[in-house]
Amino acid sequence: MTKRKPDRRNIILIGFMGTGKSAIGRALAEKLGRAFVDTDEIIERCEGRAISQIFEEDGEPYFREAESRVVTEVSERENAVIACGGGAIINPINLRTLQEAGWLVCLTAEPETVLARAGKLHDRPLLCKPDPMREIRRLLKERATYYEQADFTVATDNVTENEVANRIEELLSQEGCL
Ligand code: S3P
Repeated sequence: MTKRKPDRRNIILIGFMGTGKSAIGRALAEKLGRAFVDTDEIIERCEGRAISQIFEEDGEPYFREAESRVVTEVSERENAVIACGGGAIINPINLRTLQEAGWLVCLTAEPETVLARAGKLHDRPLLCKPDPMREIRRLLKERATYYEQADFTVATDNVTENEVANRIEELLSQEGCL
């Protein structure tokens, strides 16, 4: 349920790593005939290297700066579906910028689902820890209040990407957000 009225009508997917933001965002954009953008993809394209490499070579603070610039850039779009990296909304300025740019839809998944999906751990530098499950639980707890800022929340465990995209469309349409 949302009573907010953002300045622009983008649909912005937030949520933890492995909740399917990119794949679901792409499916949703196709369904709605909208453009799709992905902040991680833009960062990788601009930097000419993978996120894991950016973390390794320049560290997380450098990545977060690049991420903030990209968040500002994509927030200028209109009627797009935007998938954000899982940590983008931890920065309060990014959160406010995204809130003005559209409706925030948080995708969720149980820690077990996240671990199973994040099979390629080298692509998720924050989970490259001796005990990734413990790290997933820790980060989920630490970030819970940020993800709760979303206008809508949709669980992604045991459902297909298309089913989640359908559910998002249904929710937004019910609330007059499409
Ligand atoms: C991060 C999530 C990743 C990527 C980076 C940091 C995070 O994106 O931006 O590894 O802090 O949660 P996905 O959520 O698309 O995996």
